[in-house]
Amino acid sequence: MPFDFRGKTAVVTGGASGIGLAAKRALEAGGASVFVFDVAGAGITVDVTDRASIDAGFAQSGPPDIVIANAGMGIEAPFAATSEDVWNRTLAVNLTGVFHTVQAAARLMIPRHHGSIVITASTNSYDGEAALIAYNASKAGLLGIVHTAANELGPHGIRVNAVCPGLIRTRLTERHFSTPEVLKDYFRDVPLGRGGEAEEVANAIAFLASDLASFISGAALVVDGGQMAAKFGTWNEDTAEFRDGRWKLR
Ligand SMILES: NC(=O)c1ccc[n+]([C@@H]2O[C@H](COP(=O)([O-])OP(=O)(O)OC[C@H]3O[C@@H](n4cnc5c(N)ncnc54)[C@H](O)[C@@H]3O)[C@@H](O)[C@H]2O)c1
Repeated sequence: MPFDFRGKTAVVTGGASGIGLAAKRALEAGGASVFVFDVAGAGITVDVTDRASIDAGFAQSGPPDIVIANAGMGIEAPFAATSEDVWNRTLAVNLTGVFHTVQAAARLMIPRHHGSIVITASTNSYDGEAALIAYNASKAGLLGIVHTAANELGPHGIRVNAVCPGLIRTRLTERHFSTPEVLKDYFRDVPLGRGGEAEEVANAIAFLASDLASFISGAALVVDGGQMAAKFGTWNEDTAEFRDGRWKLR
């Protein structure tokens, strides 16, 4: 048992697949009772864009000790061609959905004087990756939620942190991972030379959620194989080759 979550109740939004599903499994492996809130029908059916739906979910789960605000989506479109509908939908799920999830969780945690909240932000909280204006803005906004919620909830014994994943193999990124040429270029700037697996993000989420992170609040933990550090690029054909989905030194 890598982390001890025995006796804890946890909620994972977007826990039906990808990073959320891996987080659910990591929390369960530590002994937590985990409730998934997802539109996809696994666990309790909750649409995070609908506050009443979130509140109904928490009524079923009971007051949580741990909440992972992870549900998210992304639609690619050039900035100039991004419709108001794409903008509104993305912000509704990725930003307003997290606001509602964290606020609902906080209201249940405050009277109990403890809690740990982890938000799934992104390296796109910092980067201006093209064709993702709505996604990038939503993920940048999450840092505002992390900082403010950590500030206001700390006195109540509640910690609020974020993980910022780089490119992780999930349903959301299928298109990248099914196109080796795209991966090859993308991973040129990832010092570890590859994409991440959902479990590698889930381990960071579990750490931040756990008592091992008892003095960590307001932090954004980058889980990106070094990508944010590698501004000037890492890999090229002079010394390395791209094989089996990753860069390797010759
Ligand atoms: N995969 C990556 O490379 C990557 C990188 C950085 C951040 N992220 C973030 O990680 C989180 C999880 O994404 P993933 O890659 O596991 O994708 P995913 O598509 O596998 O999982 C997203 C989950 O969120 C659920 N969801 C979507 N809209 C919802 C709503 N309105 N209410 C409730 N649930 C909803 C989906 O049904 C799905 O189960 C997202 O916030 C995403 O932005 C992913």
